[in-house]
Amino acid sequence: MARITASVYTSHVPAIGAAIDLGKTHEPYWQPLFQGYEYSKQWMKDNPPDVIFLVYNDHATAFSLDMIPTFAIGTAAEFIPADEGFGPRPVPKVIGHPDLASHIAHSVIQQDFDLTIVNRMEVDHGLTVPLSLMCGQPEAWPCPVIPFAVNVVQYPVPSGQRCFSLGQAIRKAVESYDEDLNVHIWGTGGMSHQLQGARAGLINREWDNAWLDQLITDPAACARIPHIDYVREAGSEGVELVMWLIARGAMQDIAGDPCSIRVKHRFYHVPASNTAVGHLILQDV
Ligand code: DHB
Ligand code: FE
Repeated sequence: MARITASVYTSHVPAIGAAIDLGKTHEPYWQPLFQGYEYSKQWMKDNPPDVIFLVYNDHATAFSLDMIPTFAIGTAAEFIPADEGFGPRPVPKVIGHPDLASHIAHSVIQQDFDLTIVNRMEVDHGLTVPLSLMCGQPEAWPCPVIPFAVNVVQYPVPSGQRCFSLGQAIRKAVESYDEDLNVHIWGTGGMSHQLQGARAGLINREWDNAWLDQLITDPAACARIPHIDYVREAGSEGVELVMWLIARGAMQDIAGDPCSIRVKHRFYHVPASNTAVGHLILQDV
């Protein structure tokens, strides 16, 4: 059967994608940030997944105010990087896994979560920047990716609790797929940042790091944090962090054995554009 064996968490700042694409990763501003992902790129090579289930948010690229799915699963054979205004990023197209994605859609909907099924979609920095951070600049991404878009842009957005429960449903869905596949689940977006209004530029290191602690050690309590706390403490775009709870809910310790996972890597860095960058890798023991 297919199994989820690891989860990866990372911010998705668009300027990181530009720094990679324009060859600026060794500049003094960016070097400390990319240094934090050196371990991760090696870890990806040493622990290659067969499929990545990539939870991210679209930024009015594939969806707009015309159509706002709360949870959307990409079931297409491929997903093209979008033009977000400066031309599409020069990164490989994303190859999907239609069969596993359709299976997960079927199972998760039967577990009472309403997913939107998306058979054609372009993907923006929310998806491509995490891939670049973890995989560098390959000719092709190392494996198929199932994009899973969460609305964290236009209220009402889903609660942390719902995201955490959805992660548990995704784990069950993956485990009911017949083929032996090693699946990694990624939660992306965050950490603290606010891009508009009087508090634009807000960063909250203390809160971010306490939240990371709790995500690791007491994710059920982390899932109970209400939206208002994210917005107050981590800024309006800090609410992207609820997506990390989907990946966290899909890990083995939540399904039973509390000692079954290990923190392989943890990194936190400020500044990156307007955003604090957080990154974690959790893996089955
Ligand atoms: C920035 C961060 C984001 O998460 C985003 O989607 C767009 C911009 C920023 O830091 O500028
Ligand atoms: Fe964003």
